[in-house]
Amino acid sequence: MTAGLARLTDELGILYGGDYNPEQWEPAVWREDVALMREAGVNLVTVGVFSWSHIEPRPGEYRFAWLDDVLDLLHDAGIAVDLATPVASPPPWLGHRHPGSLPTTADGTVLSYGSRNQFCPSSPAYREAAVAIAERVAARYAGHPAVRMWHAGNEYGQFCWCDRCAERFRDWLRARYGTLDALNAAWATTVWSQEYGDWAEILPPRVAPYHRNPSQELDFRRFGSDLLLDLYREQKAVVRRHDQGRPVTTNLMGFFGGIDPHDWRADLDVIADDAYPDPASPDAPADAALVNHLARGLAGGGSWLRMEQAASAVSWREHNLTKSPARLRTEVLQALAHGGDGALFFQWRQARSGPERFHSAMLPVAGADTAVHAGVRALGAELRALRGLVGERVHRRVALLWDWPSWWAATQVALPTARLDPLATLQAWHRELWRLGVVADVVAPGDPLQAYDLVLAPALTVLERPAADRLDAYVAGGGHLVWGPFGGVADGLAHLHAGRSPAPLRHVLGVSAEEWVPLPDGGSAVSWAGPLTGHHGTATTLGERARTDGAEVLATYDDGPLAGSVAVARHAHGAGRAWYVGADLSGPGGGLEAVLRAALDDAGVALGGQVPGVETVWRGGTLVALNHTDRPATLVLAAALAAGPDGVRAAAALTDVLTDARHDASATLPLAPYDVVVLTGRMT
Ligand code: GAL
Ligand code: ZN
Repeated sequence: MTAGLARLTDELGILYGGDYNPEQWEPAVWREDVALMREAGVNLVTVGVFSWSHIEPRPGEYRFAWLDDVLDLLHDAGIAVDLATPVASPPPWLGHRHPGSLPTTADGTVLSYGSRNQFCPSSPAYREAAVAIAERVAARYAGHPAVRMWHAGNEYGQFCWCDRCAERFRDWLRARYGTLDALNAAWATTVWSQEYGDWAEILPPRVAPYHRNPSQELDFRRFGSDLLLDLYREQKAVVRRHDQGRPVTTNLMGFFGGIDPHDWRADLDVIADDAYPDPASPDAPADAALVNHLARGLAGGGSWLRMEQAASAVSWREHNLTKSPARLRTEVLQALAHGGDGALFFQWRQARSGPERFHSAMLPVAGADTAVHAGVRALGAELRALRGLVGERVHRRVALLWDWPSWWAATQVALPTARLDPLATLQAWHRELWRLGVVADVVAPGDPLQAYDLVLAPALTVLERPAADRLDAYVAGGGHLVWGPFGGVADGLAHLHAGRSPAPLRHVLGVSAEEWVPLPDGGSAVSWAGPLTGHHGTATTLGERARTDGAEVLATYDDGPLAGSVAVARHAHGAGRAWYVGADLSGPGGGLEAVLRAALDDAGVALGGQVPGVETVWRGGTLVALNHTDRPATLVLAAALAAGPDGVRAAAALTDVLTDARHDASATLPLAPYDVVVLTGRMT
């Protein structure tokens, strides 16, 4: 994955540019675009994502001259191309001639063309047409010198509940279960008289009178992700027939629930991610960091690519706040600090028409004489100066475990509470880490954990035996684990584990529970003990009626339905320690920060600068300090160094990469509002 990206960055440096949709413009505008791109330092643009109807206006009738000209123009200007197979949005002729190629929703509505993404992933008409257009594009441009990367489709994420998808679903289930008996057992169909006597009876989870089968729903999610992965692989295989070397990828969408990126990552030559943090959210800087940590986790801790972001406002929220150029710079350099070796945008030139005409761009509709464009140019110049960061590894010692089946299972209907949102829990735990100056990878429970000193599992509702065994071995071998609320309750089919909970892990935690207990509004007070004595806490949303089986009690419920029962505990297991956090402590005054601080301390993980709103990240021997606030801030360099890699901890001075200014390592660093400073440690 990282090798695919290195191929590009070795040649081009930090990638800078965005989606480019020349089919919306006259050739005279293309020439202006290319000149302005050069001046802005753009080195890579994504072309063709939505070009299908412009290339193939009628079935089998191709118009390539315009695309030839665009690629030649870009190449002559030294701008590389990430060329799309334009299959995300089929032309109207496909839906018109093959109405069956249109997607059907769970309630039977057929979605029309006239927008984008209107295809059924198992429609033969769509798939044949998509392979045919990809074939034409790849055959024609595989030898074009501008092309450096291929972009299959766009943001795969659409699903369909039609009869043909039902057939594909049955095929997928046959391959997974072999026999109807096995399927009936896996889906526990004796509940509510759902036993299937014939494969033909099995359907996707369509709109039904009451709750649907949770195991069927989980399998349909897996199937949906696999079906789209098939489509992606089909596109990649077409490209590979013509181009054996250049990386092929598609763009992920951070914490998007539709597809499971852990199943996709091996097929992506570059981990590419789109991110649109909401400038209106006070948590945007921390949550944006979390999305970057996911991308890096998917890339095995290595480099990844920001494929899309907004230069200022988006247009798809209800109320779309703009971003100042200073704030944009902070976001772009934040991603770079977190291992993102490129900053691409949607899009280069703002549209004048169509649904996205109010979406910002690197070149606004108001033209080049704008603050947004001036900011884009300045950023392009800075990224050239920061090339030395490319490929460097981010310094991190903590992992956050996250997986899609847990997310899916914990957001189904008919749970103890609908108020415990797994993603919100993950974000809440990460926000505490972020405030403490701790950088963490987001990884899957099956990923190698040995390199991490501390592993947090805030929301792993699903825990299968092999993953539990790996966590056991990790802790027994000296690792530190913090286990969150409503964790390990179910297997991969959302069947509850039998026995006291979390059954596969209770011997590691030294705690076991017998009942999930939603807490009254206002929560329950908890009293702290041991290393947490003196803290105060409130458990909200959900707790568990638990007892310790050998763990040291760190917090007990004072009142409410769980009065007297253990809320937080710590247990020595082999050479390591496991912490149990049985309730949601992430609310105001909840006490989560105290627990995580103590666990970090126990694991020997140093905290960072801890200036409110200021983030410090070490990438290689370079410190990136980011002020995410609109106020001036001051960073104590010694504190940032203490959390740095061994090699620079003893640095006597730090040099500003962009200005060459030297800072004494014992000094303080002033940061203007939204300022970012990039410092390299020196041992002199
Ligand atoms: C992405 C998409 C782009 C553009 C962008 C606007 O989801 O891939 O084509 O629509 O959103 O924010
Ligand atoms: Zn379908």
